[in-house]
Amino acid sequence: MKTLIVYYSRTNVTKDIANRLQKELDCDIEEITDGGKYDGRLGYMKGGMNASMGRTSDIDPISKNPSDYDLVIIGTPVWASNMATPVYTYLIKYNDQIKKMASFCTCISGGYEKALEKIAEVSGKTQVSTMFLNAKDVKNPTEKINTFIKNIK
Ligand SMILES: Cc1cc2nc3c(=O)[nH]c(=O)nc-3n(C[C@H](O)[C@H](O)[C@H](O)COP(=O)(O)O)c2cc1C
Repeated sequence: MKTLIVYYSRTNVTKDIANRLQKELDCDIEEITDGGKYDGRLGYMKGGMNASMGRTSDIDPISKNPSDYDLVIIGTPVWASNMATPVYTYLIKYNDQIKKMASFCTCISGGYEKALEKIAEVSGKTQVSTMFLNAKDVKNPTEKINTFIKNIK
């Protein structure tokens, strides 16, 4: 199954998990970037506001066409119990080109159910597999990653 991981990461937590998944699955990977719109303290506040209001914001052009893949895995940090704004923007722009989808999120402690539900709702796709990792999980993610991958295969 041709698989693409698409993720956004502000402070590299989601990025580390995405990279681990990429190694396990030996698949393509694309980071959503936006020139650091949400960097720093002001960026944190803007991100919380945009995510809770369901806004989009500009993202950089993508390099991988999602329609070339059988499965796209979406990875996002939880922002105000939602997916991060750049991920929402990606879905609004490219969801129509995605065949099958799986998703995961990282967070400190909570809001992951709503964030994952929102991804399913916005995409209109039953998720092949989902996973959340809180601050404790990211220190030792092996078990969750293995379960996530088992459900994909
Ligand atoms: C704007 C903003 C809102 C956040 N909201 C939540 C939240 O609702 N629940 C939570 O547990 N963590 C929340 N966090 C923390 C991140 O989800 C968490 O640190 C995540 O693992 C960061 O991933 P990253 O390094 O890939 O950006 C928030 C972080 C930001 C920047």
